[in-house]
Amino acid sequence: YIGNRSSGRMGFALAAGAADRGARVTVVAANVELPRDRRIQYVDVSTAAEVERACRELFGDADVLLMAAAVADFRPAQSHAGKIKKDGRPTLPLRLEATGDILTALGEQRRPDQVLVGFAAEHGDGALERGRRKLREKRLDAVVVNDVSEPGIGFDASDNEVVVVNVDGERHIGRAPKSVIAQAVLDAVTPVRSGSS
Ligand code: CTP
Repeated sequence: YIGNRSSGRMGFALAAGAADRGARVTVVAANVELPRDRRIQYVDVSTAAEVERACRELFGDADVLLMAAAVADFRPAQSHAGKIKKDGRPTLPLRLEATGDILTALGEQRRPDQVLVGFAAEHGDGALERGRRKLREKRLDAVVVNDVSEPGIGFDASDNEVVVVNVDGERHIGRAPKSVIAQAVLDAVTPVRSGSS
């Protein structure tokens, strides 16, 4: 399939951290093979379109949306019901079409009392500036920027190192296990939620 190396660990760590703080948590999980937490409700899906459908359904009841999913930006434009035979085909060109941006769509319909946190998977120089642009363009309260070009952190790793950006400024959280990063992200979000920041 077309995807990326994301394991879902950051999202699951955020969910566990929020449950620790007493939140009622629902996780939309796409192709995640990690142990489940009894305190959490899971909606299992497998494609970007299914993630979008599930998020749209659940969003109205949510106080906080933490969008850690590495959603595919493109999908095959065509699918075939049967098998594609190889005879007479020296190559098989694959045309991809853009998927919808789920966070942008939800940002457009958000209520003022909802808190939206996005992630920004960035590569190299200018990562923070591009993260800030995502904060504005997706109408988020905070964006968690991580540099996916760094080995050992981010995609399919147990550790992460991030900068949490909001309209007031930014907070760097040094390399740590994703459970620790999740707590720091939730610390940054809690004041927004209670209206004190
Ligand atoms: N996101 C989303 N729907 C998509 C793609 C991304 O909701 N189809 C969300 C991600 O979950 C993340 C945020 O948007 O919270 C930013 O995702 P990222 O991959 O960093 O950036 P993109 O907006 O996809 O832009 P680009 O890949 O060009 O950097």
